[in-house]
Amino acid sequence: MSAKNISLEQNYWNDFYSKWVIDIPSQFCVQMLTEVNPKHTIVEFGSGNGRDSHYIAYQGHMVVAMDLSREAVEKSRSTMEKRDIEHAVFSVGDVSVEKDVAGVLAVGRERGHADSQSLVVYSRFVLHSLDDEQEALFLSALAVHMEVGDYLYFEYRCSEDAGTEKIFGNHYRRFVDTDSLSSDLVDKHGFAVEYCRTGQGMAKYKNEDPFVSRIIARKL
Ligand SMILES: C[S@@+](CC[C@H](N)C(=O)[O-])C[C@H]1O[C@@H](n2cnc3c(N)ncnc32)[C@H](O)[C@@H]1O
Repeated sequence: MSAKNISLEQNYWNDFYSKWVIDIPSQFCVQMLTEVNPKHTIVEFGSGNGRDSHYIAYQGHMVVAMDLSREAVEKSRSTMEKRDIEHAVFSVGDVSVEKDVAGVLAVGRERGHADSQSLVVYSRFVLHSLDDEQEALFLSALAVHMEVGDYLYFEYRCSEDAGTEKIFGNHYRRFVDTDSLSSDLVDKHGFAVEYCRTGQGMAKYKNEDPFVSRIIARKL
């Protein structure tokens, strides 16, 4: 697949999240939380049903999250309301639209801890659901609206994953070339890549053990 149709994708994810109930955090989310400052606000793009955002909020962080799927966002909100958690904010938006990305980052900055205005931007299994143009728009928006010292955490299916068996088919996927993404972050978008790993065993789910890459980058 080369280009992605946003409204088809929105329908796919609305349907998916009307059935998907797992609210256990990802391994990557747990890795991220073991190393960030507890006062940092986490901004999650492509939060799905909120499995990671909820866990981030349970750990006491302010979390501001956005997803394309209204179904997913409503479910995420209702889980937080049932637990009377007010430090988790969810909205519907598109990561390839600059004003949506800027708006979410601005809310993260406003609602941040008084002692720490830095943000950690977290996005898991989203980059590979964007086409090339949407990824470029997302990265440009982050580059413009993130501030010096903010951190970026990405996990996604990389090129090596193209041949592995998948449990969920039927939606847009692009296998991301990690060398090229890493160069773009450094050369085009003003980040320092501090950590980059590719492998299996990092996002195993039932019989599926995808090749994924994790990137941690700091805004310069
Ligand atoms: C594979 S799911 C990952 C969800 C969650 N991060 C997780 O790890 O469970 C991909 C998510 O990206 C969202 N998404 C896809 N394209 C998007 C876009 N252009 N803007 C915002 N969210 C998008 C989908 O709605 C879906 O919730």
